[in-house]
Amino acid sequence: MDLYKTDEEVELQRESCLLVSATITEVAKLLKPGITTLSLDEMAEAFIRDNNAIPSCKGYHGFPYSLCISVNEEVVHGFPGKRILKDGDIVTIDTVIYKNGFHGDHAYTFIIGETSKEILDLVRITKESLYIGIQKAVTGNRTGDIGYAIENYTAKQHGYGVVRDFVGHGVGREMHEDPQIPNYGFRGKGKKLVQNMVLAIEPMITMGSHKINILDDGWTVVSEDKSTAVHFEHNVCVKKGAPLILSDFTIIEIAEKQNINLNSSYY
Ligand code: MF3
Ligand code: CO
Repeated sequence: MDLYKTDEEVELQRESCLLVSATITEVAKLLKPGITTLSLDEMAEAFIRDNNAIPSCKGYHGFPYSLCISVNEEVVHGFPGKRILKDGDIVTIDTVIYKNGFHGDHAYTFIIGETSKEILDLVRITKESLYIGIQKAVTGNRTGDIGYAIENYTAKQHGYGVVRDFVGHGVGREMHEDPQIPNYGFRGKGKKLVQNMVLAIEPMITMGSHKINILDDGWTVVSEDKSTAVHFEHNVCVKKGAPLILSDFTIIEIAEKQNINLNSSYY
């Protein structure tokens, strides 16, 4: 399959990506201590379907929900459920939506209420590392340039764990397309990036070990040492000179700042 898209296809895909941003924004408005993660999933599924789109995760290789909700030591692919969110929880909302023949796939980590300076730093640096990686998504670079940039900032400069068993990826008519985008690597190595490739760039960073375990549900990925994990993801179109980010954190960030139950003091 071609790894690049036409400009028209990229514009269609942008709609899917923006609907993911809008969905995460709706979740951000509801996040507070006392709410169950299942109620967030139910709201999000209704919102997605009301927008004439399909929650791609639901039924994907048997995944039972529309959102992945990963709390504290959970890295990715957490199940929504009866769990009640509480002050101090670190909550990643990750979802994929199919519309117009294309998938959008992105993620954002929220802090409920008070947390430590160390965790505020972990969240900020993981988010910054996403943009540092994105800057490398330009024609002529290779996947290793993205991975190196993220690993260098998070692991080498700040001593965090870079999860290696899950990676970013191309995204388009399929949820997961080539090339893989590891959050580690070597400059100048890996697949060459070409104009109009759309990539899901998604650092998954822990306070401690990069090693992970998968829980008995067969899905939930946790840090092996139970240290807090953070995950931010954007969909990015490779361009010459400067990448084009298709997803949009600004609406999420407005909702985050307006929700008094969320802590955005890290940025
Ligand atoms: N964004 C996640 C990924 O790319 C979500 C996949 S949907 C799931 O792996 F069904 F696998 F959860
Ligand atoms: Co993804």
